[in-house]
Amino acid sequence: MGVDRPLVVTDAGVAGAGVLDAALAAYDGPTERLDAPTEPSTDDLTADALPNGVDGVVAVGGGSVLDTAKLAALLLTHGGTPADYLGAGAVPGPVAPLVAVPTTSGTGSQSTQTAVVHHEGVKRGVSDEHLRPARAVVDPTLTFGLPRRVTARSGFDAFVHALESLTARDHRWVPERAITYQGANPVTRPLSRRALSLVGGALERATMDGGDRAARRELSLGAHLAGLAFSNAGLGVVHALASAVGGMTDAAHGDCLAACVAPGLRYNLPVRRDAYAAVAAGLGVGTAAEDLVTEVLRLRDALALPSSVADLGLDRSDAAAVVENTLVQERRLATTPRFPDEDGADLRAAVAASVG
Ligand SMILES: [Fe+2]
Repeated sequence: MGVDRPLVVTDAGVAGAGVLDAALAAYDGPTERLDAPTEPSTDDLTADALPNGVDGVVAVGGGSVLDTAKLAALLLTHGGTPADYLGAGAVPGPVAPLVAVPTTSGTGSQSTQTAVVHHEGVKRGVSDEHLRPARAVVDPTLTFGLPRRVTARSGFDAFVHALESLTARDHRWVPERAITYQGANPVTRPLSRRALSLVGGALERATMDGGDRAARRELSLGAHLAGLAFSNAGLGVVHALASAVGGMTDAAHGDCLAACVAPGLRYNLPVRRDAYAAVAAGLGVGTAAEDLVTEVLRLRDALALPSSVADLGLDRSDAAAVVENTLVQERRLATTPRFPDEDGADLRAAVAASVG
């Protein structure tokens, strides 16, 4: 790839667990190292803060590490700060070569064109085809030692990627300007279905028995396929809500999804009855749309994930702010099956009802 001195983006947890050494075992050239923050923010990274003399980026870690690496590759080539590139299509050209080595089975960031970044209290995205890593090395053995909680959270993220991309707005009804995500289409649906089947079948097993290597392998492949699917089809209101809640609470992405999945799926239910029923049948959990909702909530609880935004420290009085921060998630809402009312009243009611 023509890289002489890569910047290795990782974090202390990955390095401390020996996973960084395992991932780089075959490489003995010079490197610089950058430890990613738990949640990258537009304040954390500037081009000036990056080491001199590096000409490519290798990311070894979970979603935050991979997203930080995308931003580093962007800033190495084009300078400035991530705030200069927020939204879709703001990257002026190719970025420094990036090799992504995921150590969790969740975000699928190794196969997507987006880096998620906190900006002024809201989770935003820098989305551009130039940010898709040049190479992804998906090695399930790097996930074998993942703690139970991380397995559950990141795997639930992959599950929701598969589900939301499968049931996203059809590509024929997505406004043309939302070119980052095209909507669910005949190429993405088979990827989403396979991802849903792999992740749905393996997530509980990998979480309950971290030594179940077959489950780890299925989860790893499923999360990757889900990344390929959603980075083309797009996602929906569960991710939009979770991004809002993540910006307000700093809770982990998988926890935010778990807290938002009930109001999100129930909100979609009136326009996705047939699709949800078909997914329920595919997973072997029933034949009605409500059976899918029941199964997702059962999975969430079996994984001991948060069941409501109240578990993340928010209450009914925060519902209006959650929805306000959700309505700015254009990237998510462009492909969501049910567009919220302009003032968000219908979504606010769904969120408030879920807080109890
Ligand atoms: Fe996600």
